[in-house]
Amino acid sequence: MIKKLRLGVLASGGGTNLQAIIDRCTDGSLSAEIALVLSNVPGAGALVRAETAGLATCCLDHRSYPDRESFDRAVVKTLHDAGVELVVLAGFMRIIGEAFVAAFPQRIINIHPALLPAFPGLHVQRKALEYGARFAGCTVHFVDGGVDTGPIIVQAVVPILDDDTEAALAARILVQEHRIYPQAIQLIAEGRLRLEGRRVIIDSPPPSPVAALINPPLP
Ligand code: GAR
Repeated sequence: MIKKLRLGVLASGGGTNLQAIIDRCTDGSLSAEIALVLSNVPGAGALVRAETAGLATCCLDHRSYPDRESFDRAVVKTLHDAGVELVVLAGFMRIIGEAFVAAFPQRIINIHPALLPAFPGLHVQRKALEYGARFAGCTVHFVDGGVDTGPIIVQAVVPILDDDTEAALAARILVQEHRIYPQAIQLIAEGRLRLEGRRVIIDSPPPSPVAALINPPLP
């Protein structure tokens, strides 16, 4: 029986990734419990989802702090007070400062709606579409000092279709986000990840995935 990992989920938006994690904790497929849901946006959908699930919530509005450092300090204190072991950024639209990263070494993860290292930053589904890429996807990675630069844990790939809109592509990616974020958290809960340089090595990995994806498919 694996001890449940105590999660602190940080979210700024609607919270569908949070919901996926809540659901996997509830059905027992994730060996984790959500100690706290924290948002920087008053009234965020993620806070409503957390309250509906009976979880502890906290809202720290970044606009009430004079600078990033003081906001980060308040967030770190709140997470420590809640006994958080793993910080899970789930649509948290704030950059994390160095002191925050240092307070949870290799214990902060993020999900990003692109196949990193392509398309870091914002509006990345639109950028992948405009670039003419044939594939897009999502990435769960450890957070380091940079923007979307940390070691990659899991990625999922989706095709970009000729008639795609930004919204349609984002929705296709989001379905996969909801699958791989709980997967990555479970690997951490089971203690199966270690870093070699910036490569994340998985202990007892499942069989290799398909050899190649081609879009458009070969005839
Ligand atoms: C998700 O698509 C997530 O990957 C993205 O925000 C969305 C949040 O949706 N995060 C980022 O872009 C971080 N750079 P949700 O609130 O429904 O989980």
